[in-house]
Amino acid sequence: MNPGTVKIAHISDLHLLGKPDRRQLNNLDRMLDHFNNDGFDHLVISGDLSSNADKQDWVSVREKLEKHGLFHWEKSTVIAGNHDLINLEEEMRFYNALNPFSWMKEQAFNRKLAEFSIYFQELVTGREKGSASFPYIKILQYPSLSVAIAVLNSVYPWHPADNPLGARGLISIGQLRAMSLPDTVRSVKDCFVIGLCHHAYKVYGTDALIDQAFDWTMEMKNREEFLKVMKLMNADVVLHGHFHRFQSYKVNGITFINGGCFRYDAKRYSRLEITGKGNFTQQFLSLA
Ligand SMILES: [Fe+2]
Ligand SMILES: [Fe+2]
Repeated sequence: MNPGTVKIAHISDLHLLGKPDRRQLNNLDRMLDHFNNDGFDHLVISGDLSSNADKQDWVSVREKLEKHGLFHWEKSTVIAGNHDLINLEEEMRFYNALNPFSWMKEQAFNRKLAEFSIYFQELVTGREKGSASFPYIKILQYPSLSVAIAVLNSVYPWHPADNPLGARGLISIGQLRAMSLPDTVRSVKDCFVIGLCHHAYKVYGTDALIDQAFDWTMEMKNREEFLKVMKLMNADVVLHGHFHRFQSYKVNGITFINGGCFRYDAKRYSRLEITGKGNFTQQFLSLA
């Protein structure tokens, strides 16, 4: 391998089930060991660390990253998925019992996102203190090239009519605008640019009505606007999770990589090898 190659590991959708989930945590240990032994430069986890929005699962992931020396700004990037921020059962119960105003729900959602960001602040802002929020750009300098990870939150609050499973995605206009600012675009001009969010650009249904209904509950509502911003930033790849398939596909010249689901296959991961702006190879690999 060319010594100037930057290696990025990507896993997604761990869907841990609270503290008793020993088996999955052991699997995570094995995977993180492998990333260290194989000399990966950076790890991306694209959301749904938890299955039931249980903070204990965030704690478990952080502990594992710390144990393996990966809980550092330059070593890992972690984002939230819908299952980290939305407990569907609670949402429905609360809605039925109290019928709260939507602004209250939005506030509670924003609080949970802020909590996640603060808990993983070392990976989000590189500082222990200070407020963290989306979007942000992480620029990683390597001897041979710079890599910019443009991170957006695509999870938005549960709503009985518009987001009944809490699984639809939306990237706020504010985030898209921030990423479109001329200064932002200029700041990543010479970098290999990686876009990152939880939701998929593409969900793979068929034309059958049942699939279309399923797609609707999972889709990123404003994916075309998101794609435009990724084009503007000259993104080379976009990493995501959410739709539990290990798969890559191309849209308008950009390669989208779906990190699949660690819960379904805890041996599989995506390896991205970057040799320069626009030059990379990607593979899904399995541990022996
Ligand atoms: Fe998921
Ligand atoms: Fe998800």
